[in-house]
Amino acid sequence: MNIQIKRSSTIPEESNVVFFTTNPNKFDQSLLTADQIQFVKKEFTAKKKLVAVNQFNRFVFIQRIEKTSKKPHDVKEFWRKQGAVLCSSLNGMKAEKITLVNDDLKEELLCYAEGMALANYQFLKYKSEKETNTLKEIIIKGRKVADTDINKLTNVCDAVCRARDLVNEPQSFLNAVQMAKEFEALGKEAGFKVTVFDKKKIESLKMGGLLAVNMGSNLPPTFTVMEYKHPRSKNKKPYVLVGKGVVYDTGGLSLKPTANSMDYMKCDMGGAAAVACGLFAIAKNKLPLHVIALVPATDNRPGEDAYTPGDVVTMHSGKTVEVLNTDAEGRMILADALHYAKQYSPELVMEFSTLTGAASVATGKFACAFLSTANDVQKKKIFESSWNVFERMVEFPMWEDYGELIKSDIADIKNIGGPSAGMITAAKFLEHFIDYPYMHFDIAGTAFLHAADSYRGKNGTGTGVRLIVDFLSNKVVR
Ligand code: BES
Ligand code: ZN
Ligand code: MN
Repeated sequence: MNIQIKRSSTIPEESNVVFFTTNPNKFDQSLLTADQIQFVKKEFTAKKKLVAVNQFNRFVFIQRIEKTSKKPHDVKEFWRKQGAVLCSSLNGMKAEKITLVNDDLKEELLCYAEGMALANYQFLKYKSEKETNTLKEIIIKGRKVADTDINKLTNVCDAVCRARDLVNEPQSFLNAVQMAKEFEALGKEAGFKVTVFDKKKIESLKMGGLLAVNMGSNLPPTFTVMEYKHPRSKNKKPYVLVGKGVVYDTGGLSLKPTANSMDYMKCDMGGAAAVACGLFAIAKNKLPLHVIALVPATDNRPGEDAYTPGDVVTMHSGKTVEVLNTDAEGRMILADALHYAKQYSPELVMEFSTLTGAASVATGKFACAFLSTANDVQKKKIFESSWNVFERMVEFPMWEDYGELIKSDIADIKNIGGPSAGMITAAKFLEHFIDYPYMHFDIAGTAFLHAADSYRGKNGTGTGVRLIVDFLSNKVVR
């Protein structure tokens, strides 16, 4: 992460400052002259929300927070977005430090800092002339905010930025083997165990789905098992995270048309980035939990030996799949990972994938498609987390009727379900490989953005990380 979040009991001399107020006539005036106070009041009368006072050696901002009847999650999101707005102004004026001042607020200040830290993200690795953001420090001066709050927030924002880095990396660098190396580095840094299965091991496990998708590639597949176990973990059965790790999706022999649909398919490992970096934040925050993350990884290409429409593949579970579209590759590799997860008797499996264009068409960039066999209590909790972090989801059903659409004439199932309800038939396909409570997040619409969107930025968003951390943090009984 390119920014530090700190706490201080004083306002550093050289730092810009923002005071928060709910009352336009009653704001912290300690750093302002009489003229400046008059100016701020005038601006507030003119309905301005953020007033900037230029004191030459620094800016003092007064951020007005209106009382609202909005729901708490909307208020938190408002603060994150305001943080993102100020972040871009500060970089515009080449500022390095900002101090957020308020003694009565906690969540709001943390959200503001979160919005700023995430908005400050940049991916500059391949730029010769790096126009680096100047903003380097967010300082919080507030009685309600503790050091532990700041550490947790820092670890989560850092994990989101790392997920974005992975998504933004092209496959020319981030092939399946390299991605596994990146996961090993994450494990080393945060203190979780990483085991990488190579092609030989994957063959010995008979992971037919992963091997089939890999056949068109010159590079080997990987299957990474990451395990974090706190010595006093609260859960007996582990939570298992599974992420789709297609480092590049050409569609294979069922080739994608280039315009739009193939150009950004380096993002097809967005699920893998989410689960690895989610685990990274959980380990960094030392949550007393037992969590495992699994990532099957390969590229999907139309090579000489590529798997072919009409092929029948025997999966890791022993089930047979008739391949009718090689572009439905995500479910092929995920099926093997989901079946592999059975050995852990998981409490719950949460799987994140950029799986279907249908999910993205249905909900756009505003929400992911959510399908689940978990019970109502678990579903209620994940929706609460989804609102907390404002990574919204729309639930689709897993009715039996949709299962009819993936029946095959010659194998147990086929890998496509026809033109309608694509995100549902994909989940019905995966359901064949589970025997535990399961949540499926289709992040095809939210993992990668083509235009900047507040603190979510442009390109890789790191979606999933904050959701995983919030949901699993709530599993820690205090
Ligand atoms: N990786 C794509 C899905 C995708 C689309 C991700 C847009 C991100 C943005 C996936 O592998 C795919 O190609 N899905 C097909 C499935 C179809 C062939 C059944 C699709 O959605 O068209
Ligand atoms: Zn794909
Ligand atoms: Mn595909």
